[in-house]
Amino acid sequence: MLTVPEFATRKKRNEKITMITCYDASFARILAESPIDVLLIGDSSSMVMQGEDSTIQASMDSIEFFTKCVSKGAGGKKFLVADLPFLSTRKGIRFGVESAERLLKAGAHAVKLEGIKGNEKLVAHLTDSGIPVMGHLGLTPQFVNAFGGMKVQAKTGEAQDQLLQESILFQKCGAFSLVLECVPSAIAGRITQEISIPTIGIGAGARVDGQVLVLQDMLGFNPAFKPKFLRTYLDGKNLFLDAFQSFHEEVRSSEFPSQEESYL
Ligand code: KIV
Repeated sequence: MLTVPEFATRKKRNEKITMITCYDASFARILAESPIDVLLIGDSSSMVMQGEDSTIQASMDSIEFFTKCVSKGAGGKKFLVADLPFLSTRKGIRFGVESAERLLKAGAHAVKLEGIKGNEKLVAHLTDSGIPVMGHLGLTPQFVNAFGGMKVQAKTGEAQDQLLQESILFQKCGAFSLVLECVPSAIAGRITQEISIPTIGIGAGARVDGQVLVLQDMLGFNPAFKPKFLRTYLDGKNLFLDAFQSFHEEVRSSEFPSQEESYL
């Protein structure tokens, strides 16, 4: 299992980090047998698992629940990062610490939080308390309303300078890694060169220290969702539909179950 100090080693050795979201024990069991480095119990669970239209609806209860499921499935074989959900970092240090505590006690090894402005003290306090923090900047989905939609961020020189400063601030406050989401690859590359903690990109190009994708997206469960950055590694939706179709047909034709599949 990857450890927090090994994130820095990976960057020094120029060895990329792979992270995939996971919300349940079945997939965690499979991912535990894969070479993927990190499982992220993301607040995208509100959309993927709960059918909501944004990550705003993710709650402490839901992320804690999904973290417990993933932790059981992963069986101690993977480094688990869990998202601090919308506003859980904005209700005072005590609330933030108690939220992170719940996620670590549910099985996470680190928490991820969106945005550094106003979160400096919390990030420093968490890291000083032995709770590793992964930062998240760029298109931070919890800010969807402020951004006016899910749009590529840091397109202007000024916004890119600000993104760089915020990345440096995350590092100064003690974060051990940083997710950069939907930003031009040039600024992601510049940040990656200027900070010593590893950057993990999603829609941030190739000049970062690792990549993260949402599991159901990379498995092709929702072919209608086609952002430019997404590569699908499986035709998941159609493979599943084929299996359901076969089961349905074989039940209707009495082909299933056979004698071998029946108790005699
Ligand atoms: O919740 C999530 O899935 C995420 C990734 C997109 C990085 O934060």
